[in-house]
Amino acid sequence: MTHKILLIAGDGIGPEIVGAAEDVINALRSRFGFNCELEHALMGGCAIDAHGTALPDVTLERARACDAIVLGAVGGPKWDKVERAIRPERGLLKLRSELDLFCNLRPAVLFPALVDASTLKPEVVSGLDIMIIRELTSGIYFGQPRGIETTADGKRRGYNTLAYTEDEIVRIARRGFEVARQRNRRLCSVDKANVLEVTELWREIVQNMASEYPDVEVSHMYVDNAAMQLVRAPKQFDVLVTDNMFGDILSDLASMLTGSIGMLPSASLNADNKGMYEPIHGSAPDIAGKNVANPLATILSASMMMRYTLGEAALADKVEAAVSRVLEQGLRTADIATAGCRTVGTREMGAAVIAALQ
Ligand code: IPM
Ligand code: MG
Repeated sequence: MTHKILLIAGDGIGPEIVGAAEDVINALRSRFGFNCELEHALMGGCAIDAHGTALPDVTLERARACDAIVLGAVGGPKWDKVERAIRPERGLLKLRSELDLFCNLRPAVLFPALVDASTLKPEVVSGLDIMIIRELTSGIYFGQPRGIETTADGKRRGYNTLAYTEDEIVRIARRGFEVARQRNRRLCSVDKANVLEVTELWREIVQNMASEYPDVEVSHMYVDNAAMQLVRAPKQFDVLVTDNMFGDILSDLASMLTGSIGMLPSASLNADNKGMYEPIHGSAPDIAGKNVANPLATILSASMMMRYTLGEAALADKVEAAVSRVLEQGLRTADIATAGCRTVGTREMGAAVIAALQ
């Protein structure tokens, strides 16, 4: 079976990190018989420049037609002045929404070799392996009404809407329970039920579903406490499930437990496990084109794609083992550099992962 993979490099460091992931995919192809067809498409600021829109129709069509997508990152100062409704980030949100990629998996795993790269004490983070599940196509990111208006007194007022339907909560919570079942069977649902009605409903629904999963231990935590606990004692968690905005924030926080945001991959899945795979970091315009970006989050995203969408778990294992080996050899990009290690660029890191594949 030929897997159809769409590569969307995007803006900033996107082309460099997706290039590194593409090289890894090609190595899997030539050395381990991975059968795939690669296509490319534009999205984000580069698509605004070329087509006047962040998500051109041809990109959306290709995205619908492929089995899986690897995405770099979108956005940058060049497009900050573009009208809000057509900014690069809106293209990404529209793609997530059009493909119904509601389930965002953001694993925060500390590679043993990076225990000193984290700003937290080694004993707090060593052995860390948690999974944040973020609802990705609803909540405040998509709620209507939204906007900035001028009120009767001539002053402006900005507003967004946080809303979830029962069905939206059930389907993401179900993923939470199922993922917990594959892991250590502990699910923590994160909300702000003491203040926000919508998350009061969230908590009630998750709690009601718990009886269907008697083997999973469920807990609930307010988001402010969860942020504190993630820094205080992150290993208490196994799987966290939360809404779109809380998940956005907590996953950036969790990334620093693993040494760098440059290490964290993600999977965004629809109901059939079709997926888009992207690093959780942004386009880092300040270091774009300098061969210093860390390509590992994108390479690990490609590895998640092998596992979750393409059914190629053995290849995913190979890529993850190769990343681990390279880190053990002491190779580091600037973001994870520690004393005594060798600092290398994006291309060298990508090549080292390929050389370490076995
Ligand atoms: C992420 C990013 C995006 C988000 C931005 C770029 C729209 O921060 O994937 O976490 O907020 O979802
Ligand atoms: Mg984010």
